[in-house]
Amino acid sequence: MKKVFIAGAGMTKFGELWEQDLRSLMVAAAADALESSRLGIDEIDAIYVANMGGSSFAGQDHLGSLLATELGHYVPAYRIEAACASGGLAVNTAWHALSAGLYRNVLVVGAEKMSDVSGGDVTKGLARAADDEYEAYFGATFPSLYAMMARAYMHEHNADRSDLAAVSVKNHNHGSLNPKAQFPREITQEDVLNAAMVSDPLGLLDCSPVSDGAAAVVLSTKVTSVRIAASQVSTGSIRLHDRPSLTSIDATKRAAAAAYKQAGISVPDISLAEVHDCFSIAELIALEDLGFAKPGDASKLIKDGTVYRDGTVPVNTSGGLKACGHPVGATGVKQIVELYEQITGAAGKRQLKKDISFGLAHNVGGSGGTAVVTIVEHV
Ligand code: COA
Repeated sequence: MKKVFIAGAGMTKFGELWEQDLRSLMVAAAADALESSRLGIDEIDAIYVANMGGSSFAGQDHLGSLLATELGHYVPAYRIEAACASGGLAVNTAWHALSAGLYRNVLVVGAEKMSDVSGGDVTKGLARAADDEYEAYFGATFPSLYAMMARAYMHEHNADRSDLAAVSVKNHNHGSLNPKAQFPREITQEDVLNAAMVSDPLGLLDCSPVSDGAAAVVLSTKVTSVRIAASQVSTGSIRLHDRPSLTSIDATKRAAAAAYKQAGISVPDISLAEVHDCFSIAELIALEDLGFAKPGDASKLIKDGTVYRDGTVPVNTSGGLKACGHPVGATGVKQIVELYEQITGAAGKRQLKKDISFGLAHNVGGSGGTAVVTIVEHV
């Protein structure tokens, strides 16, 4: 197998971007990543587009061809979909092709345009990533599915809403340094606890927002300072009620175990992580499933500073999905952009003042039906 490296990365601002449509977001992120890679478009052998809801949210499908057309570069182009894990899965799929020696350089673009339809239509479109027959049909939405996980977690581990709120406070603190974040501002625990209730116990500030945005990376077999040391995907039941546990995502555990093995490392080797905090409860569960904390102990890592930007394992230095925003198809690619920028010293005001050996990205589709874990190495 060939070794795979990251040659460049870029992204648009995330937010409610009234002036930009899905196509212009994809093109802007692609141009940013190509410029960062110093490769010409003619050197790109294939294009991978990650997107969840082109037809639901933006009235546009056939995104591989659309981006090839806009770039004027007619190479093989693929659209990859795995709900909110579309970005991670596109990176994984591109990694497969490069490792197999099929291509030399590929462009991976994740994009979503969500703000052109009503909140109700966004919620309905997102719910298509749940099981239609057993969940969405009965009115379950993503906030309500994660609220059930949060209730089970609070019951099992004697946790309360302040444990959940700690995630949002941290990620907004980190996001306040990110000019590309949708909400680059700090919030307090009181803000989170007093915000409007969305699905009990999750309030407005426990939820990632509805976002527009795109992110892109250029992956290459040419050596750079950032190597993809592991890229692993697993699945679990798409239905919450079939899972062995409501307080753990078994797909994450399987993908993480395979990724640590592939990279030949263990949890203490990780210098920073971007984890999937679509709701505050999701980050607590992720920290436990990825092995950073024992079940029930994740909020301690936030409260004692371990996962803050000056702690031993900063988590979600971009602001995470909560503060940076969650244009669903773009998120998994944006996580890799953040790791790349931190490793190459291009993170601006967010730049960590520590040596980075390995960074981990964790991207989840739905309530845990798909999980992707990517480990990048500073070489
Ligand atoms: N975090 C912080 N602020 C938010 C926010 C969020 N998640 N969502 C909205 N806001 C802000 C808006 O900017 C706006 O502020 P303003 O009044 O200063 O302009 C205000 O809150 C109201 O925004 P609005 O768009 O009316 O919110 P809403 O009630 O329509 O939507 C949610 C709020 C939480 C329901 C929506 O963001 C949501 O559905 N999030 C979950 C998305 C999701 O499920 N993703 C997939 C995960 S698996």
